[in-house]
Amino acid sequence: MTHRSIQQLVPALAVTEGAGVTVHRSIGTPALKNLDPFLMLDHFGSDDPDEYIAGFPEHPHRGFITFTYMLDGHMEHRDSMGNTGDLKSGGAQWMKAASGVIHSEMPKQTQGRMRGFQLWINLPASEKMAPPAYQEFAPEAIPEVSDGPARIRVLVGEHAGVRGVVRDPNTQVQYLDVTLPAAARFEHPLAAGLTAFVYAFEGAARLAGQPLATHTLAVLGQGDTVSIEAGGSGARCILVAGKPLKEPIVQYGPFVMNTREEIEQALADYRAGTLVA
Ligand code: FE2
Repeated sequence: MTHRSIQQLVPALAVTEGAGVTVHRSIGTPALKNLDPFLMLDHFGSDDPDEYIAGFPEHPHRGFITFTYMLDGHMEHRDSMGNTGDLKSGGAQWMKAASGVIHSEMPKQTQGRMRGFQLWINLPASEKMAPPAYQEFAPEAIPEVSDGPARIRVLVGEHAGVRGVVRDPNTQVQYLDVTLPAAARFEHPLAAGLTAFVYAFEGAARLAGQPLATHTLAVLGQGDTVSIEAGGSGARCILVAGKPLKEPIVQYGPFVMNTREEIEQALADYRAGTLVA
């Protein structure tokens, strides 16, 4: 058994998104432009309504999947497919933007804590212009499993025989929310060749013996097992893995395609009002 060690540490960078929301970005920054098949990871988290109240008014996406995991708070989603979503603490949303979606993500709270993650997962060339799709999961729909002292919410993929709510045929994504009490240890097997990262958002941890601080993303090297050990005050982190697509990535803001011509087409479609069906 070989433990995956830390290949790169990426402290999250505060950036302003939407109509003036502060998010902490790790994937999608100069230090880590992308991590095939992942294009962006934003962690939003604030007790200050001024940092989230402006929300994310109408904006487009084409060419990938957005996966939102709400830890605390209440957001309303509306999109060009006609979906209205209610995203609550512990719930998740899997939106395959593919050929095009225009949506808004607005807070339904005016006070208290808003906290969560948004991950952008790339689509292969063959799926980029497929019809869009939307799936939403209430908090109680997401399975939880205990593994020794660790508590795991299985969002995508599988742990200890418990399968998550989302199937991802393209990049076989795995997405676990792992809570560890002080000094507890957690192990998760991973197939060779999968890209993997861990992002700690509470406490501090050690990965294969190497320290990982809060609000830092660790890109993992190869090996067959991920080993996370919590520090003295416990730890909570997400463990995410997926199969790299190994295709060219051309990104212009919310459009991620394989060629420049496809990006120009996306912009032309958006201007002409034909990005979405
Ligand atoms: Fe969006």
